[in-house]
Amino acid sequence: MSYGWETLQLEIQVSGFQLEPGLVAPVRALMRHPVWQERVATERIYAKQQRTVKYAPHTNSVIDLIRYFGCKEVAEIGVWTGDTAIAVLAERAEELDSYWMVDPWGIVSDQLTAQYFSHHPTIDFEKMTAGVQDAVVQYHSARVLQLSSEQAALHFAPESLDMVFIDSDHSYDCARRDIAAWLPIVRDDGIICGHDYCLGGVYRAVNEVFPIETLHLLPDSVWFVEKGRVSAHE
Ligand SMILES: C[S@@+](CC[C@H](N)C(=O)[O-])C[C@H]1O[C@@H](n2cnc3c(N)ncnc32)[C@H](O)[C@@H]1O
Repeated sequence: MSYGWETLQLEIQVSGFQLEPGLVAPVRALMRHPVWQERVATERIYAKQQRTVKYAPHTNSVIDLIRYFGCKEVAEIGVWTGDTAIAVLAERAEELDSYWMVDPWGIVSDQLTAQYFSHHPTIDFEKMTAGVQDAVVQYHSARVLQLSSEQAALHFAPESLDMVFIDSDHSYDCARRDIAAWLPIVRDDGIICGHDYCLGGVYRAVNEVFPIETLHLLPDSVWFVEKGRVSAHE
């Protein structure tokens, strides 16, 4: 099954919130970007993910964005076991100068991080990061920052990254804070994007920060904005 308006509706329903009637038409129109067309035409589903994911996974959308916009300096915020990072590096390592993997992996450094990890008290982070550690050895562009999103952002100069992919804590507060921390780090002609637009907190935060005309959706609930278009709308 390919990803489309019906799939997004289903995701929104499953995540337990309603799309305001006034937003149905604009949200449908989010799927209009050329990356979307290309994505649908060149569907790739990783064998590993086919077991659990019924539609195109977000990893493919991230790879397509990097490829389409020719991004060289990229950060992923919230990495977990590194499934997306490893797939991106496997496909794009030659073209990427740096792929930053930002995740506290259990190190509680501020209030929001503490809240997140209080929901995940029993995870073995050493085991979880084995793939990420291998990726660092294997790919020259792989970089790790074991920090919370906000703390990691302090290590980057303004407008120094081509793309930031946000996939950390999906609560409203954290999503707002992630966007605020990373938007200045994205180059003016760069991309800010994230996963799980269909989740209530992310949906609200993204819609509050970005004019709906500047938003695009890719398969598996990946939202993205070309930063230059935001300033053009202000
Ligand atoms: C949904 S998972 C990431 C999945 C990953 N992007 C992928 O596609 O495979 C969420 C991750 O966000 C991390 N996280 C939670 N709070 C965070 C914060 N404040 N800053 C950065 N990462 C955070 C968690 O440790 C977890 O690994």
